Amino acid sequence: MKTGGILLCGGYGTRLLPTTSYINKHLIPIYDKPMIYYSLSILLLAEIKDITIVCDRNDLNSFKSLLKDGEEFGVQINYAVQDSPLGIPHGISSALDTNNYEKFICALGDNFIFGQNFYSNLHSFFNENNQTTVFTQHVKDPERFGIAELSKDKKKILSLVEKPKKFISNNAVIGLYIFDDKFEEHFKNTKVSGRDEFEIIDIIKNYKLENVQHREIGRGTAWFDMGTTESFYNSSSFVRTIQERQGLLVCSPHEIAFRNNWIDEVLLVNYIKSIEGSEYSENLASIINQ
Ligand code: G1P
Repeated sequence: MKTGGILLCGGYGTRLLPTTSYINKHLIPIYDKPMIYYSLSILLLAEIKDITIVCDRNDLNSFKSLLKDGEEFGVQINYAVQDSPLGIPHGISSALDTNNYEKFICALGDNFIFGQNFYSNLHSFFNENNQTTVFTQHVKDPERFGIAELSKDKKKILSLVEKPKKFISNNAVIGLYIFDDKFEEHFKNTKVSGRDEFEIIDIIKNYKLENVQHREIGRGTAWFDMGTTESFYNSSSFVRTIQERQGLLVCSPHEIAFRNNWIDEVLLVNYIKSIEGSEYSENLASIINQ
């Protein structure tokens, strides 16, 4: 079965204008590294080695000059163009046109998940399960997210609503999904919503909620959607706090690749030299003998 990961980096980045009028949101730094490093780390921690990045045609060269073919992370990185920002499912479909995964994990490029517990079995979970899966986290502001109403034992999803105006629950569907090869079929049966986008929630509903698996990411796991000014600042500040206190890097795809034995020390040292003078290079150098 062909499996892989899709990283969505399209969209207007409206909430971060005017900055996003000249640079793709996912390339702006969150503390010491580009935003996309955080979402790429989710896929690397899930041990996904075939990754397709989806972005607007104008941004393609910028992403390519940052991530190249993935060699510096010991993975294969492919690129797919999303011709118009018509939402998450449309982005996924653009990736599948390039790389026809039969099972894939999709992360939104502005999502960031931190916590060892969550990652400890993500790889085996992805490998062993063939069911569409959504992940949720308790939030204070449910009107900003896709929201899941869960059964009392939290095992079943009773309903899903995108950015509900009326309170349903505090369980936000985070930007991480597992889908199978029926995705395109369900996408074809979906129409654009009131905000002129295809909604991922509608695709999940097309799978029929009783066939969809749900996992809570847990209290010990931090999740940020970095797409607003406020969350942009909060996530930067979170990364700074952890890195300064613990002297450990947060979500460095180079470190993950090194610890997974996907790249060797020579390759890492050469990379560090190529970005000498930066704080990221100093932080990365410090992990070699840890
Ligand atoms: C998107 C999804 C939403 C999800 C959120 C997570 O919202 O549509 O269901 O909860 O990502 O980051 P958007 O960022 O497009 O507003």
